[in-house]
Amino acid sequence: MSGIAALLLQLGHEVRGSDKVSTVETDRLQRLGLRFHQQHRAEDASDADLIVFSSAIRSDNPILVSARDSGKPLIRRAEALAAIMRAKRGIVIAGMHGKTTTSAMVAHVLREGGLHPSHYVGAEIPILGTNAHWDPRGEHFVAEGDESDGTLRCFHPKHALILNIEEEHLDFYPDLAAIEKVFAQLIEQTSGTIFYNADDPSAARLCANHNAAISYGFSESADYRGANVELREFASVFCVYRRGQQLGEAVLNVPGRHNVENAVGVIALGTELGIPFEKIAASLRKFQHARRRFEIKYKSDRFLLVDDYAHHPTEIRATLKTARSIGRKRVLTMFQPHRYSRTKALCKEFGRAFDDADRVVVTDVYPASEAPIAGISGKTIADEMATHGHRGVSYQPHFESVYREVGNILDSGDLIVSLGAGNIHEQLSILAADLVIAEKLKAIVGTEGDVRLYEPLSKHTTLRVGGPAQFWVEPRTENAFAELIRFCRQENLPLFVIGRGSNLLVRDGGICGVVVHPCGGDFDKIKIDGNEISAGVGAKLRQVAYAGKAAGLGGLEWMEGIPGAVGGSLRMNAGAMGAQTFENVVRVRYLDENGEAHTKGRDELEVHYRNFPLLENNFAVSAVFRGEPAPTEEIVRKLEASQEKRRTTQPAAKSAGCIFKNPDSCPAGKLVDELGLKNSRIGKARVSEVHGNFIVNDGGATAVEMLELIEKIKATARAKRGIELETEVQIVGEPA
Ligand code: EPU
Repeated sequence: MSGIAALLLQLGHEVRGSDKVSTVETDRLQRLGLRFHQQHRAEDASDADLIVFSSAIRSDNPILVSARDSGKPLIRRAEALAAIMRAKRGIVIAGMHGKTTTSAMVAHVLREGGLHPSHYVGAEIPILGTNAHWDPRGEHFVAEGDESDGTLRCFHPKHALILNIEEEHLDFYPDLAAIEKVFAQLIEQTSGTIFYNADDPSAARLCANHNAAISYGFSESADYRGANVELREFASVFCVYRRGQQLGEAVLNVPGRHNVENAVGVIALGTELGIPFEKIAASLRKFQHARRRFEIKYKSDRFLLVDDYAHHPTEIRATLKTARSIGRKRVLTMFQPHRYSRTKALCKEFGRAFDDADRVVVTDVYPASEAPIAGISGKTIADEMATHGHRGVSYQPHFESVYREVGNILDSGDLIVSLGAGNIHEQLSILAADLVIAEKLKAIVGTEGDVRLYEPLSKHTTLRVGGPAQFWVEPRTENAFAELIRFCRQENLPLFVIGRGSNLLVRDGGICGVVVHPCGGDFDKIKIDGNEISAGVGAKLRQVAYAGKAAGLGGLEWMEGIPGAVGGSLRMNAGAMGAQTFENVVRVRYLDENGEAHTKGRDELEVHYRNFPLLENNFAVSAVFRGEPAPTEEIVRKLEASQEKRRTTQPAAKSAGCIFKNPDSCPAGKLVDELGLKNSRIGKARVSEVHGNFIVNDGGATAVEMLELIEKIKATARAKRGIELETEVQIVGEPA
């Protein structure tokens, strides 16, 4: 509609428009003189001479109703376009797939050929400037003809370019015969030449006998023939022959064999209009195609993100074939079906259209203006693909989770393509923006480190609860960790550190920003030096106790009872068996907010029960613990006692250790027990029957359930015993 408005404004008419939303496009048109209303009100169009409406407008729209009642002329978009075109020599580009790219190519080639064409195409084409333009100097008008609602019948062009004809828009047409009938009428109404794709059976059947028909394609019999096609990553090189005579070589900077075919059609048309082949070839080399047509959103050696408008099985097959031919390792796809009617009618074909994709995430249907059809959803297509034998398909009903699902499985060498005519490209754009940051993080941690997008934190917490980390980063060296701290500071990205996640309750919305998990490399090292044991923050605290045992050092046996890593036990001053971390700590090495390293002795450190404040804004990298020489049997006995205590008093089920700090008056576990709250539950979150200070995850519990149960315990302790329980477990992240 914006194209029609632009043309009418350029022709000097007074134009008003209405829509539910204003867009960049309506803003641009307002600058050209459009009077725009961000709602559909009859009074805003009461003095109009003519109302033009889109097929997407519902019949009960107030402007339509009022115009109908008052007998005002009402015409559809295509009728308006046909009327405008009548002032020039119309060239209509028609077909099921590739219309926008091809009409843009035609307009561009004619413009470069000096013919000053006017044009109307169905999308913003950067190389043309706008989607519609009126040039009073030229005699041609290039228009993309829309076959979806039968309005092709409106056109009486000079020439027509017929790309392909097949079953589509079955919400409007009963069958292929009905579609062919509309095309036949367009052909009949074309006064000059019909250019048609000889490789398309329906187009060939309908056009071949027309008295002024010129064929193009790859087939030997085509008047204009493309041959020796060489498909490169983002371009194609091919030879063009006219009735057996070589015209020359052309380069098209748009990928895919189907686009070469379209370009041969454009060459046929341009040549017949008198533009020399060399000029056509030079303009094709410069051509950049429409937005959302194999549009590259991000490109690096490791990843390629492409957005494409394909929403019909044939288009999807063509796009995925192109994607596959680019030669990256895997092709991952996010697909948003468009319209319930198409999903239902072509469900079988959709099931077979994704064979070139390694993984496909299918969202729910983008309805356009349609009402839902019972039993039809994205799952219909996902199921059909699985039945067809595709092994990498999943259905994701939460649209906002699509970029996360795809992002989390990314691996170097992946090509990711978003497919659909709705708003799936938004999900790809979010992924592209995050990938830019993820790649910088990867450069910091190097090949030995790891970076993952949207890593589910339920995989990294002992409670098995928690939404995704936007950027999950595993540095292996102190230098990389320091560099990460500086990068986050400079980019204003929040940074959070996770060790073994044994004392953590992450909310269901996950953690925004960078989540650093120092592990492996420097961080897992444990070294003995006399009575001292130095350990990186990634080492398990339990391993420190066992390293002590191996070196004949005791006094560390209590550590056996702590499931966490050194980093977490420092941060929390974790304890068990009446002992706590800082009783053994000699020195701590940490990085400050600028990534500078410092080492501080125990005497310089302020430490509390279950709290070491220094690590609120600084990041531990290692610690030195002191053990006391002791006979091995004694160490073994104490380790076994600790093990036994853990085994007999604590649940084996998934938990975050003790939920509450022990209040002075009574251990929290005993209190919960006395309050009779053991085994009480909310959803899959349950107070352990073994120990009252543990909440266990019975499988698939959410953070919301955990938090509700915590609140319930706190409220009961407050009401019945006047005790204010304080959580020991760290609660972090965003709500879902
Ligand atoms: N008790 C009950 N019912 C229960 C649980 C405990 O009556 O359901 C009684 C016990 O019989 C005991 C007292 O409460 O008389 C204390 O219980 P326990 O000995 O199990 O120790 P705790 O104080 O609950 C502390 C740490 C644990 C550590 C154990 C073992 C805190 C908040 N908890 O538990 O640490 O494993 O000692 O030494 O300090 C953790 O911090 O995550 C953690 C698990």
